[in-house]
Amino acid sequence: MEKDLILETKQLTKSFLGFIAVNNVDLHVQRGNIHALIGPNGAGKTTCFNLLTKFLKPTSGKIYFNGENITQTKPAQIARKGIIRSFQISAVFPELTVLENVRIGFQRTHTNTYNFLRSDSSLNRLNNRCRELLAEVDLLEFENHITADLPYGRKRALEIATTLAMEPELMLLDEPTQGMGLEDVERTTQLIKKVSTGRTILMVEHNMNVISSIADCITVLARGAVLAEGTYAEVSTNPAVMEAYMGTSEGVLEGAH
Ligand SMILES: Nc1ncnc2c1ncn2[C@@H]1O[C@H](COP(=O)(O)OP(=O)(O)OP(=O)(O)O)[C@@H](O)[C@H]1O
Ligand SMILES: [Mg+2]
Repeated sequence: MEKDLILETKQLTKSFLGFIAVNNVDLHVQRGNIHALIGPNGAGKTTCFNLLTKFLKPTSGKIYFNGENITQTKPAQIARKGIIRSFQISAVFPELTVLENVRIGFQRTHTNTYNFLRSDSSLNRLNNRCRELLAEVDLLEFENHITADLPYGRKRALEIATTLAMEPELMLLDEPTQGMGLEDVERTTQLIKKVSTGRTILMVEHNMNVISSIADCITVLARGAVLAEGTYAEVSTNPAVMEAYMGTSEGVLEGAH
C-alpha cells in the first residue's frame, strides 16, 4: 500500500559552526499517526523541531509537507499551512482566564476574526468554539479560572488546547509530559491519543511508557542521525538503538507492556 505521508524530510541537516546537530535526517510521518521522535539527550530532537517550524534554517536538505517543498517557507506561512508547534507555558498568559487564552489561540491564525467581532452573536460563536476545545481537553470546568492558578498538568492541557485552537493538521509536541507526576502523565497520554483523531502528531518524548502506549511509529535519533524508524516493537529490539541508550539516564527501552 502506498504510504500517505503528511511530512517528509530528505537529508535534513543543521550544523552550528561546524558541529552537526542534525545529520542527513530522513523522516517519514504518515498522516493520522502519532509519530514519536526519541533519542538520548543532545540527539538533535529539538533542533529537528526548530527546523520543521522554520525557527532555524536548515544547512541543507529538504522538507515536504503534503508533498509540497516547504524548505524555504517562512514561519508564519508554516503555521497557516497547518503545522503548529505547541506553545510552552511561558506563552500562555498567566493573568488571563483559561477561556481567554484559548481565544487568543484562535486569533493567532484567524487574524481577521476580531475584525468581524462587532456583534454579540459572533463573539458568542467564538466563545462556544473555545468551550468545545476546552471540553476536548477536559478543562471546561476551569474556563473562568485565572490561568496562573491552574495546577501544572492542567496548564499543559491548556497549552494543548491553545495549539488546537490554531487548527493544526500536523501538531508538534516537544516533551508534553515533562516534569509531570504519574497521574498527569497518564491523563496527558490519553489526551494526546484523544486529540490525535483526525490530526497527525509528531512528538518528542522521553517517557517510554507514553511512547509504547500511544506511538504508531517511532524515529530514533542519536548524535543527529536516524538510527531506526518503525513500531515500538521494531525499534525497541533494534541492537543499534539498545546500544545508543546504554549508559544514559533513560536506561533500557522498557515500555509499559
Ligand atoms: N543554537 C545552537 N548552537 C550550538 N549548538 C546547538 C544549538 N542548538 C543545539 N545545539 C547542539 O545540538 C545538539 C542537539 O541539541 P538538541 O537540543 O536538538 O537535542 P535534543 O535531542 O532536543 O536533547 P534533549 O533531549 O536534551 O532535549 C546538542 O549537542 C546541542 O548542544
Ligand atoms: Mg530537546
